[in-house]
Amino acid sequence: MLKKSYPYYLANQPQQPNTDLAVRDKYSGRIATRVAVPDAKTVEKAIAAAVKATTPMRNFKPWARQAVLRHCVQRFSERRDELAEALCIEAGKPIRDSAGEVTRLIETFQIAAEEAVRINGETLNLELASRLDGYHGYTKRVPLGPVSFITPFNFPLNLVAHKVAPAIAAGCPFVLKPAEKTPIGALIIGEILAETDLPKGAFSILPIDGEHASPLVEDERFKLLSFTGSQIGWDLKARAGRKKVVLELGGNAACIVDADQGSKLKHVVERLIFGAFYQSGQSCIGVQRIYAHDDIYDALKKRLVAATKKLKSGDPKKPDTFLGPMIDEAAAKRLHGWIDEAREAGGKLLCGGKREGNMLQATLMENVPADAKANRMEAFGPFALLQRYSTFDEAIAMVNDSDYGLQAGIFTDSLDHAMRAWNELDQGGVIVNDIPSFRVDSMPYGGGKLSGFGREGIRYAIEDMTEIRLMVMRES
Ligand code: SIN
Repeated sequence: MLKKSYPYYLANQPQQPNTDLAVRDKYSGRIATRVAVPDAKTVEKAIAAAVKATTPMRNFKPWARQAVLRHCVQRFSERRDELAEALCIEAGKPIRDSAGEVTRLIETFQIAAEEAVRINGETLNLELASRLDGYHGYTKRVPLGPVSFITPFNFPLNLVAHKVAPAIAAGCPFVLKPAEKTPIGALIIGEILAETDLPKGAFSILPIDGEHASPLVEDERFKLLSFTGSQIGWDLKARAGRKKVVLELGGNAACIVDADQGSKLKHVVERLIFGAFYQSGQSCIGVQRIYAHDDIYDALKKRLVAATKKLKSGDPKKPDTFLGPMIDEAAAKRLHGWIDEAREAGGKLLCGGKREGNMLQATLMENVPADAKANRMEAFGPFALLQRYSTFDEAIAMVNDSDYGLQAGIFTDSLDHAMRAWNELDQGGVIVNDIPSFRVDSMPYGGGKLSGFGREGIRYAIEDMTEIRLMVMRES
């Protein structure tokens, strides 16, 4: 059960002013709960508090940071069902996927708890010439100071965790703006953080709109902005001034199915269907483009269409629902429009293609022209296209013919093809014998081209949130 209302968090404290925002159940459309909304003065107070917390957070010992993160692991585990239900309601995410995201939230904090006590430096040999005899160098990593975070609607728990948990491990105070449509997960994380002895001002979680979030982007007191979301990230980067910026801006992930996969199609299809349609395709690494070799193309297509037609869609609260709603009607209309446009341009609809409100059917197409939006842009919905290839060079070229470069997948028995994919695909990650949607929360995650830059994954985020400080010592 959701509470009737949720406070926001300013400098570790819950606040419940009179102004509030309705959060809707994304399936029924009904108001599910309300969240308190901060004003512009509160944003300034949160930044000032974070600045004040810089030294206390730097001095907050690694074991104490670890204790905070472990507390979160324990409390998330105790509140697992409540977290999954909140996610299912506020994001419309099927309850199976919601439960899976809570598991990942717990793992992400667990990984951060481990990393918190492993932030090490190195010893440098500086005696490169006789004039340097007796000089020694040592490095350690120090927290950058206050950092700001903006997170998207599609993983309201785990993509918040990917920013919050490394910030605590690294010793950085933070101000977070969760997605307006799905703020509840972040606010429950705030409630649990408020139970800890994090230094005052270490965190603020403010469900504000984009306009009020300008200081999170522009204020020079922040030393880093980490943003996950749409292409708007490039505009934020242009406004971010001297701070470091980490961007994860999505993709139109591709997956190659090689000629030798004929005997493995059952497994390949299961994984492709999951990758294309889990949480209604609203994942930056959802399978969007499937490139299959001529030898297996027809068999793969037949199986994919049959499996897609069997997917159960409807109320995300029901345990057997696979396909729930998209986040809102505008998102569903946008993708539906792209599907129609691709059909008019000569693409063939294999199944799906119908929409009712924010429910869009799981849709498969083939022969979608390379310049159609459904091919070139990020679908971010329950849509995938199939295209045949004859040579492996062609497959590599088709995957690379994209403005994005986050993750790609390849099913192959050929070591040579696996190595060529790793070497030649212009992607942040290549997943061999699984879908591009595969992610473990310790691995480096991020991409190039329009997909952004920088890497998340706890250890890599900690590197971004800290800087190297050198000490040189001369033997006297
Ligand atoms: C994303 O949509 O960027 C996150 C995907 C994931 O964490 O699985």
